[in-house]
Amino acid sequence: IKQEALGRIVSADELKELQEIKVAYLGKKGSLTSVLRGMGKLSKEERPLIGELANQVREEITTALEEKGQKLEELALEKQLEEEAIDVTLPGRPVEVGGEHLLTKIVEEIEDLFIGMGYEVREGPEVETDYYNFEALNLPKGHPARDMQDTFYITNELLMRTHTSPVQARTMKEFDGDQSVKMICPGKVYRRDTDDATHSHQFTQIEGLYVGKDVRMSDLKGTLDQFAKKMFGKDREIRLRPSFFPFTEPSVEMDISCKVCNGQGCSVCKGTGWIEILGAGMVHPNVLEMAGYDPKEYTGFAFGMGPERIAMLKYGVNDIRQFYTNDKRFLEQYHNA
Ligand code: PHE
Repeated sequence: IKQEALGRIVSADELKELQEIKVAYLGKKGSLTSVLRGMGKLSKEERPLIGELANQVREEITTALEEKGQKLEELALEKQLEEEAIDVTLPGRPVEVGGEHLLTKIVEEIEDLFIGMGYEVREGPEVETDYYNFEALNLPKGHPARDMQDTFYITNELLMRTHTSPVQARTMKEFDGDQSVKMICPGKVYRRDTDDATHSHQFTQIEGLYVGKDVRMSDLKGTLDQFAKKMFGKDREIRLRPSFFPFTEPSVEMDISCKVCNGQGCSVCKGTGWIEILGAGMVHPNVLEMAGYDPKEYTGFAFGMGPERIAMLKYGVNDIRQFYTNDKRFLEQYHNA
């Protein structure tokens, strides 16, 4: 029994095994235990001899178990330490740093340009009332021009704003009819369009409004020309084409002489060489009046532009969906733009 037990202890290499060995020899049903139990059947002379021998064997097995147990525990600890060791001399892994989204960058760049011309930046709600999105902008119910803007309605009176122009009306209301207003408002707008390379059901606009005494069409033209040259370079020309918006009179659309630049250089756009980037005009007297301004005393101009288009033009992006799908390979190209 002793030989067998000691042999098993020596070859055991897990603590669990030692426990099994202990049970097999010294446990209640263990083989050494049954030897001790069977002592009653022995003769008087044999009993002390066998007893002493059995106790000795038990002690030896117990000691062997303890020693091996300690050894295995030490080994386990050593192994764990080795596995958890940190090699402080290894080179570090690079930390990934995020960057501003191209669209955010463009919006902020445009904001900065207008802040430099004395405009303040304002915001308005994306869920808008029919009143501010349409009525207050000279688009009464049933006006055919409402169809120009495919609207997501929420209820009869609530909708997702189709443009940032409602912020014109909201701001003028706040300014109380006797102060000049100079603001821009960037924000998301929504239209029931099918998404493709040049359309998105959600996109961005930046509205501009300047109301004051003696604000003229020439001020609008000068402002937009400044903007275009600062945004795209001194060599750019703008051109205003007559257009129609119910909330401005006269209304224009602005084109910019078109060059597309990329890493390799710049080339003139195909087609006419002009590309439309915004709508604008002189604030309609009805709009001024509804917002509490006297159109005989105050005049103003307004414009609305699409920063996606501007970014596409400036950086040669050819699919508007790239702004929204967050493909890192696309976004990372512009981290240092
Ligand atoms: N709100 C117009 C649009 O979304 C743009 C615009 C703004 C036109 C301000 C004139 C004045 O198309």
